[in-house]
Amino acid sequence: MSGDNKKIIYSAMQPSGIPSLGNYLGALKNWKNLQDEYNCIFAAANMHAITVRQDPTELRQRTRDLIALFLSIGLDPEKHIIYVQSDVKAHAEIAWILNCFTYMGELNRMTQFKDKSAKHADNINAGLYTYPVLMAGDILLYQSDLVPVGADQKQHLEICRDIAGRFNSVYGNVFKIPDPYIPKAGARIMGLQNPEKKMSKSESDNMNNVIYILDEPNVIKNKIKRAVTDSDAEVRYGEDKPGISNLLNIYSSVTGKSPEESEAEFKGFGYGEFKEAVGEAVVKELEPIQSKFKEYSADRAYVEKVMKEGAEKAAYIAQKTLSKVKKKVGFPVYK
Ligand code: TYM
Repeated sequence: MSGDNKKIIYSAMQPSGIPSLGNYLGALKNWKNLQDEYNCIFAAANMHAITVRQDPTELRQRTRDLIALFLSIGLDPEKHIIYVQSDVKAHAEIAWILNCFTYMGELNRMTQFKDKSAKHADNINAGLYTYPVLMAGDILLYQSDLVPVGADQKQHLEICRDIAGRFNSVYGNVFKIPDPYIPKAGARIMGLQNPEKKMSKSESDNMNNVIYILDEPNVIKNKIKRAVTDSDAEVRYGEDKPGISNLLNIYSSVTGKSPEESEAEFKGFGYGEFKEAVGEAVVKELEPIQSKFKEYSADRAYVEKVMKEGAEKAAYIAQKTLSKVKKKVGFPVYK
């Protein structure tokens, strides 16, 4: 991946549950589409995942499965880097240094911290609080140009840019300042039962609220059939129509059609017919990924080979930035 002038993409996903359709449309689908134009680095962010209690055996399995899923959507480990965050120790090292360049006032404003501490009131740990600093380190270690994420990560990208700018203003141009890449239609996929809140892979209360990438086709269609709508019976976007707007967004994002095109396509349709079409489109998109996943997840040796080779390649790049950073802040440099 070196030797050309392509820009660098970095993104990561937590192995904190089976990825949802929101994770796919907000992030994974774009990772796949951008890989011809950029040099890409994609991680399973397992260090982020332990900010919430995880079962160790499950976490290890889910981490491997997430890497298998990256392969199943068509990310190419020969041309790009696919790795597990905890396999590259530079992440922990840079996070500490960057902690010393981040203000508590900035971290206090993070909405994800507020949401997660409300959800896990018995475990508001310091890792949850400094999570955005670890994330900033992920991105900055690789001198990333672009970070494809869903809208919920926008605030974390902003703090990353602020931290990098602050460090650069003291020590010169050490870090590249990254830009977020947030898709139009898929940026914020909402829950099917509660379209006021984002669809989340770590949801455990209501399975009908979330479509998981690995849900069976008939399960996907049934969940969409049961999605809440409204009594107006017209398929169109509207602030007063969060359920229908969400399904239109899902359809647009899956098919690549513009929101206007999708709206026009369903003019005059009843909700039943519309939902059927959305279900068909989602299944058509996910079925090939699911069958690939069956193959990759059964081949543990191959997946682990990708993880090990990815970690080596990632560590090589990360170490370059880390060495520069350590030198700048005044840590020993040996002859
Ligand atoms: P995570 O694991 O929560 O989510 C992974 C990606 O999926 C996007 N996403 C959504 N997009 C649209 N609609 C939704 N309902 C939806 N839910 C999730 C997220 O925006 C994200 O892009 N902190 C990150 C992981 C991370 C990271 C990084 C990302 C760690 N280091 C460095 C980018 C760069 C997270 O928790 O993602």
